[in-house]
Amino acid sequence: MAALTNGANPRQPDHPVHPVFTDRWSPRSFTGEPLPDSVLATAFEAARWAPSASNAQPWRFVFARPGEAAWDKFVSLLAERNARWAARASALIVIVSERKVERRGEVVANVSHSFDAGAAWTNFAHQALLLGWHTHGIGGFDREAARRVLEIPDDFSVEAMVAIGRQGALDALDKEFHAGEAPNLRRPIGETVFAGIFGVPAPIELTQSSERANAERPNAERNAA
Ligand SMILES: Cc1cc2nc3c(=O)[nH]c(=O)nc-3n(C[C@H](O)[C@H](O)[C@H](O)COP(=O)(O)O)c2cc1C
Repeated sequence: MAALTNGANPRQPDHPVHPVFTDRWSPRSFTGEPLPDSVLATAFEAARWAPSASNAQPWRFVFARPGEAAWDKFVSLLAERNARWAARASALIVIVSERKVERRGEVVANVSHSFDAGAAWTNFAHQALLLGWHTHGIGGFDREAARRVLEIPDDFSVEAMVAIGRQGALDALDKEFHAGEAPNLRRPIGETVFAGIFGVPAPIELTQSSERANAERPNAERNAA
């Protein structure tokens, strides 16, 4: 697998997981090099196989790469702070999801359209990483403009944008982002997983010593980057 970070990865899982989960992270420095069709196709293929309620597959992806006719429109959607780094990605993707689904001959609201689109995006992100490309989810963009400019039908929610690229050098990145250009950490699993009733600690050993040490760090530090 390609080098995943420019430095050491500080993420140490407390339970054995496939490295793709801890190696996926969201850099902001991208080389801007061309993104081959084959990489996009394989990452979208992975997204395609995500699970969804009623197998509705509510996700849709609209993308543009630098030099393509729609590229400037995609960049124009970004919040100014995000444009400062995401404009150097090799592609920008807008993820939308269909709010309705046909069930037993009736068109009804699909309450899990966003949940399912989230599953598809993580498939995309992990597959991209396996090919040596990094992704970065983006919520800071103009959703109304995206709907208008990309001609998103009314029945679809605009969920998120994603930047994809090869990780670039730190000095190619605006100084303001340098401190955050490293994999961040997570709260202890024991604060996330409950037994029977929300908030009730699970009676299994979830939180290992390294997580306890992490838990003792101030939140701001734990969630930095
Ligand atoms: C839906 C979504 C929206 C996000 N929006 C932004 C954003 O607007 N700007 C940004 O710099 N990062 C954004 N991020 C990146 C998150 O901050 C990042 O995923 C989080 O800190 C976890 O870090 P990691 O992806 O490196 O593991 C977003 C991520 C997601 C999934």
